[in-house]
Amino acid sequence: MKFKITLLPGDGIGPEVVGEAVRVLETIASNYKHSFVFQERLMGGCSIDKYGSSLTDETLADCVASDSVLLGAVGGPKWDDPKAKDRPERGLLALRKGLGVFANLRPVKVHPALIDGSPLKPEKLQGVDILVIRELTGGLYFGFPKGRDVKDGRERAVDTLEYYDYEIKRIMKLAFDLAKGRKKKVTSVDKANVLESSRLWRQIATQMGKENPDIELEHVLVDTAAMKLITGPAWMDVVVTENMFGDILTDEASVLAGSMGMLPSASLGESTVGLYEPIHGSAPDIAGKGIANPVGTILSSAMMLRHSFKLEAEAAAIEKAVDETITAGARTADLGGKLTTRQMADEIIERL
Ligand code: IPM
Ligand code: MG
Repeated sequence: MKFKITLLPGDGIGPEVVGEAVRVLETIASNYKHSFVFQERLMGGCSIDKYGSSLTDETLADCVASDSVLLGAVGGPKWDDPKAKDRPERGLLALRKGLGVFANLRPVKVHPALIDGSPLKPEKLQGVDILVIRELTGGLYFGFPKGRDVKDGRERAVDTLEYYDYEIKRIMKLAFDLAKGRKKKVTSVDKANVLESSRLWRQIATQMGKENPDIELEHVLVDTAAMKLITGPAWMDVVVTENMFGDILTDEASVLAGSMGMLPSASLGESTVGLYEPIHGSAPDIAGKGIANPVGTILSSAMMLRHSFKLEAEAAAIEKAVDETITAGARTADLGGKLTTRQMADEIIERL
């Protein structure tokens, strides 16, 4: 089968890790007789430098017209001026909105061989296998009003946490659907003791729970969820939450996996065009050194094969190769090893 993939390597270590994921995908293409056609575009800080915009209309149109998008990372100190008109992160948010990818899947698994690398006690990490589903195109990131003004002689800043019922329903439906193929448990995370938007969130989750009696539903307040992620993560399966809670909880959850560099993500909407990216950032401190961990991006490309292209065997082959590579002791610097980005990818490709 033939697929067109838009690559948005972005900034910092983005180009390094995307380059290795492309090599993995090319190996899959040749092993399984597919054809992946890659087109590379600028997004983020690099796009600001070249075009004066973090995401141009043309680039967004090219992404929409392709079968899927693989992204590295965006941002860096160069574009951090709080007064700047555009920021790399704005491009990423506009891309998510423009592609309509409202559901961000962030699986967090702990490889047995990496348990010692986590700051948590090993017994807490046994059997951790969580799928966080983060709502991605609503909430504080996108609500209006938003901005700065002067009110009563005082400088004021406003962000709005807004959710419509349909936005909550569609992400809840996905959570329940995905829970059916897992441990049949959904943990809905909100702040219903304080926030109106969370009370609507909980109301819809409860309704969905009644419609899906085979799934165990529990509601957990976000502060408690943050604590339980550290004190008893194995108790969670599918976790569904709004945009910013999901942003924060998934960084926290990444600690369980030993390194942020390990974790992939898939952002999905109504269409099959998905956005796939590692959950780590652009890591400016190690950019250009060739030592970043490519696993998060490589596993993201596996998610692309599974969710957008329906190539389950190919996706599973990549995941198995990564698993075996870690078991064999291959480690980049973030995991306490010495392998370069390229060498780590070579180890994975050898096992495909
Ligand atoms: C993430 C990142 C982004 C987010 C930033 C870069 C805008 O932290 O993907 O988790 O907050 O969504
Ligand atoms: Mg984040």
